Amino acid sequence: MSETTRTFPDSFVWGSATASYQIEGAADEGGRGPSIWDTFSHTPGKTLNGDTGDVADDHYHRWAEDVQHVVDLGLDAYRLSIAWPRVQPGGTGDFNPEGIAFYSTLIDALVEAGVKPVATLYHWDLPQELEDRGGWANRETAFAFAAYARRMAEELGDRVDVWTTLNEPWCAAYLGYGSGVHAPGRTEPVAALEAVHHLNLAHGLACREIRDVLGQQARLSVTLNLHVIRPEDPSSAEDQDAVRRIDALANRAFLAPMLDGVYPADLFADTAHVTDWSFVADGDLALINQPLDVLGVNYYSTVKVRRYRGDGERSENDGHGAAEASPWIGVDDVEFVEQPGPTTAMGWNIEPGGLTELLESVAATYPDQPMMVTENGAAFEDEVSADGRVHDPRRVAYLHDHVEAVGRALDAGADVRGYFAWSLLDNFEWSFGYDRRFGIIRVDYTTQERTWKDSAHWYRTLCTTHVLPAVSAVDPSAR
Ligand code: FCB
Repeated sequence: MSETTRTFPDSFVWGSATASYQIEGAADEGGRGPSIWDTFSHTPGKTLNGDTGDVADDHYHRWAEDVQHVVDLGLDAYRLSIAWPRVQPGGTGDFNPEGIAFYSTLIDALVEAGVKPVATLYHWDLPQELEDRGGWANRETAFAFAAYARRMAEELGDRVDVWTTLNEPWCAAYLGYGSGVHAPGRTEPVAALEAVHHLNLAHGLACREIRDVLGQQARLSVTLNLHVIRPEDPSSAEDQDAVRRIDALANRAFLAPMLDGVYPADLFADTAHVTDWSFVADGDLALINQPLDVLGVNYYSTVKVRRYRGDGERSENDGHGAAEASPWIGVDDVEFVEQPGPTTAMGWNIEPGGLTELLESVAATYPDQPMMVTENGAAFEDEVSADGRVHDPRRVAYLHDHVEAVGRALDAGADVRGYFAWSLLDNFEWSFGYDRRFGIIRVDYTTQERTWKDSAHWYRTLCTTHVLPAVSAVDPSAR
């Protein structure tokens, strides 16, 4: 992509994001209870190299230094997540004052420094005890989540700028209960669809509780990993139908109940041989359909699909990891074809145009819905150079081209309010452990030393000037 000079509005929010289990460590400290990710990562064979989040970035002890990095980067906002098992071990009943104090102090430090906290209530670390009672396949989990959300609004609500109920319920449901590559590692098609619904219900119930506590000052959101799905052959009706089916499971299974108060009829029809969806109770959809102040959108790459005709091995390049079971519940005749590079260390294709397309398409369907890009970034095999620095030109180019892609969506009239780079720090990348580095700040996992990569210096210039710097404009002396 050619380099352009682009200025963003002053009100546009620049941020970076992390998640509790990926950075905190201190898994057994401060009264924290176990989560499904503790159990999963400690199960042999579930994560690369057997990595766990036991220590991670030791952020629980180093949070003050990390806040200083946020401040030095010139970020307007910082997206963090609250570990439910840290503030309410077990997921029901008593809350843990020590856990609440940790987030309260962290949020105070951000606010004092003029950084807006964006707090996600669920970034996948479900208390293990709730999983023992069925997890997200159990309707009760949604009500437990609502009670936890209410308490967080009471404790932290005066200082949190935006509340995000869930991060990527797609992953929580389909990777956790469908393909099993994420915790809790179940491969049960019906449970996966129950999880979809109970996560949607949890979102709606939590919104209602937070608004009840905070009134109209509450700013509410949810973060979805919406899929940009392209047909291999746009002129093929079969490939177009493959797009429609994947779009129903990936995107409309969440957008439609949350923003329109309905489930798509084609989603029910496509999965009728799996379940009759009788777990959707009367009144649920009205609860799920809550006004959102901002819709969080995560974007990394695109997928390409075609009709699978049963000849040869089905290709499954959906970017969600190799698994014995498919996360695409009820869909046996669609395949995900390999896409042309370049790719990141995750094997994900680099396609900034997909982000423009995604933001424009959400804006076309929901013209009055403000959006925010709550995650975007790339893993590469970074190395520390002889000069002690981490030169990561491919990450700088990735960020540059995707920020430009957001600018193009703004030009086209999409109401996008902010952009958050994933991630502030290298961290525990779920089933890929510490092998995949997404940070703009490098973490040495032996010493816990943080080192700004070139991308952090570059991003600082963007955040402090609101002008998109050239890819070559890396200036470590400016810090
Ligand atoms: C998203 C997750 C985030 C991180 C990035 C790479 O799916 O929300 O925690 O793992 O992918």
